[in-house]
Amino acid sequence: MKTINESKTENTVSETTHWKLTISAANIATLHFDVVDSSANVLSAKALQEFEQLLSRIQEETATGLIIVSDKPSGFIAGADITEFTTIDNEAEALQLIQRGQRIFDQLEALPIPTVSLIDGFCVGGGLELALACDYRIATDQPRTRIGLPEVKLGIHPGFGGSMRLNRLIGAIDAMSMMLAGRSVSARQAYRLGLVDYAVANRHLLTAGQNIIQTQPKPKRASKLKALASHSLVRPLLAKQFQKQVAKHAARQHYPAPYALIDVWRQYAGNERAMLDAEAKSAAQLIMTETSKNLVRVFMLQERLKSLGKQTIEADSAQQRRIHIIGAGTMGGDIASWCALRDYTVSLQDREPQFIAPAMKRAYQLFKRKLKPARLAMLAMDRIHPDLDGQGILNANVIIEAIVENAEIKQALFKDIETQCRPDAILATNTSSIPLETLSQVLQQPERLVGIHFFNPVAKMQLVEVVSAHNTSADVVSTAAAFVRSIDRLPLPVKSSPGFLINRILMPYLLEAVELLSEGVAAETIDKTATDFGMPMGPILLADTVGLDICLSVANILAEQLGMQIPDVLNQKVQQGHLGKKTGQGFYQYQHGKQQTRSSKQTQHSANPKTAIEDRLILRLLNECIACLHEGVVDDDDLLDAGMIFATGFAPFTGGPMQYLKSRGRDAVLERLEQLEKQFGPRFKPDIGWLQS
Ligand code: NAI
Repeated sequence: MKTINESKTENTVSETTHWKLTISAANIATLHFDVVDSSANVLSAKALQEFEQLLSRIQEETATGLIIVSDKPSGFIAGADITEFTTIDNEAEALQLIQRGQRIFDQLEALPIPTVSLIDGFCVGGGLELALACDYRIATDQPRTRIGLPEVKLGIHPGFGGSMRLNRLIGAIDAMSMMLAGRSVSARQAYRLGLVDYAVANRHLLTAGQNIIQTQPKPKRASKLKALASHSLVRPLLAKQFQKQVAKHAARQHYPAPYALIDVWRQYAGNERAMLDAEAKSAAQLIMTETSKNLVRVFMLQERLKSLGKQTIEADSAQQRRIHIIGAGTMGGDIASWCALRDYTVSLQDREPQFIAPAMKRAYQLFKRKLKPARLAMLAMDRIHPDLDGQGILNANVIIEAIVENAEIKQALFKDIETQCRPDAILATNTSSIPLETLSQVLQQPERLVGIHFFNPVAKMQLVEVVSAHNTSADVVSTAAAFVRSIDRLPLPVKSSPGFLINRILMPYLLEAVELLSEGVAAETIDKTATDFGMPMGPILLADTVGLDICLSVANILAEQLGMQIPDVLNQKVQQGHLGKKTGQGFYQYQHGKQQTRSSKQTQHSANPKTAIEDRLILRLLNECIACLHEGVVDDDDLLDAGMIFATGFAPFTGGPMQYLKSRGRDAVLERLEQLEKQFGPRFKPDIGWLQS
């Protein structure tokens, strides 16, 4: 196969730092994008400026068409350079930058020759906006090709003409639903939507590009029927529908971007120029909001967590991607299927076949959901092996223990494993509460033991705590972090201490919610206060979902070791067997796993003003954050924020608990905490860590 790079018939006519312009024997110009010193193409200010320069150069040539392509194996274009967002000082500067981008893409659109973007891999944000300014788009039909405008996830909306052009190309209903959710689509879905002209096999990409230039079919536009959605009589009604949809997931005061996009579309969709102007102005305003700044920060925190696992596990042979899991229960079973989904060969050990069978069933359900076509699900099943005798221990690179939470049983197991496993294998425990030091006591080489602490449900929770004791080897920790990355999870290094980081911070917040409940505040009122604050789920529903028995066991450990008080009602519920969702009753009632709503009479009788409830919940959580930082459970504020956002969904628009604390004012929060201590007692006593600057 001849790739675009290898084409011998191309002549380079101009080269800049990030782009190369070639002309083929057939007189077709090709712009190759290849950002230096970066694994992915991003549209930095410099890259855009060079692009503009080369567009002018193309106008001087007599080329019959223009192909735009990435020379990077990772993908087409990942969007604008997000690091540059943080250097923008004011709205006027933002507007200028956005208008400049629009002018460049307008220039591309206005070229008198046919233009096509060849998309292989990701094509998102500014990358898709560039592709939309071409006459045609062709994408490779493979899983890694993802196409979309995810700007709302950064608190903005497309500004380089993407909002206008996507609406024009595929109609408002599909375009807005993609942009409002920040959803990306596969090549095949993009073809069905009319977003790309063809979805082809990789080897046909270049030929398809050349053909389309030569044949010049009429560029795609939304059908008359689809275009009707943007008719001035329809827009106000549809805008209301869009707003309703968005409101289900994002409140306007926290996430203004999708609402702003709807407003721009509703007012200006009938007029391309006016829509472009409004799009630029609105995006410039959004870039300067606190929400956008915080979401950009969250994006960068995510990158930081990803970089913690950069050292990759040597994965050049299947032999080196073997993992052995002991304990096929809730956690072990789901960790096994997740690792198999991510291409590991997994052996799964338990005491009896009957304990492994349910895990295999759940694995198949996961693969069926995640892997298409069905044949891939069968291949993934072939990667998990029930292993009653623990044969897998001998060859595994990574061994994860996820058996009952009992120190002696775990110790006996580790003692046994150490004598059998490879000398370079990672020995990991998924314990949520037993100190690593206790477990490693029995090992010849205690420095080998590391915690790899997953959250439940494994397939949904992005964060994994990588737990080290004072004697854990730094190499083991970084290899464990690399392993976590290799299964597409975010590793957060934390110190071995009661509850580690996430459960410890979350617990006072959950216990305060139960305390409020004991005082007679309705569960719905408590939960609504938390979701209005920006939490994805209220604390009472969260406790019911996790299971009240599990909450109680973590609370007991923290109570024992850190002196937290547990409200009686939690003990009572567990004694009554009301464990939450899984038993049909906890603080709420459930039918077929669905929460039953109660009458509004039962739900609204709180004598506490909403802010008082909010402060009681959030300030206990913040106090624990300060304690964890003070004790060095986590290295810094940023890692703590990242952990809380990616493990618990802590209101991302705030930038995380420590960022929220800073924006509210550290002194003001401390003062409020002291007031609460006077009112409610020592559980609000400010931690000694507040004394540190
Ligand atoms: P589980 O009770 O669902 O599963 C434990 C499994 O281990 C059972 O299938 C049992 O037969 C097996 N087992 C017990 N002793 C064994 C042995 N000597 N050899 C082989 N298999 C053995 O427990 P779950 O909830 O999966 O928890 C496992 C570990 O994960 C615990 O350490 C727990 O603290 C931790 N964890 C649990 C979370 C949760 O939400 N359930 C979250 C994070 C960590």
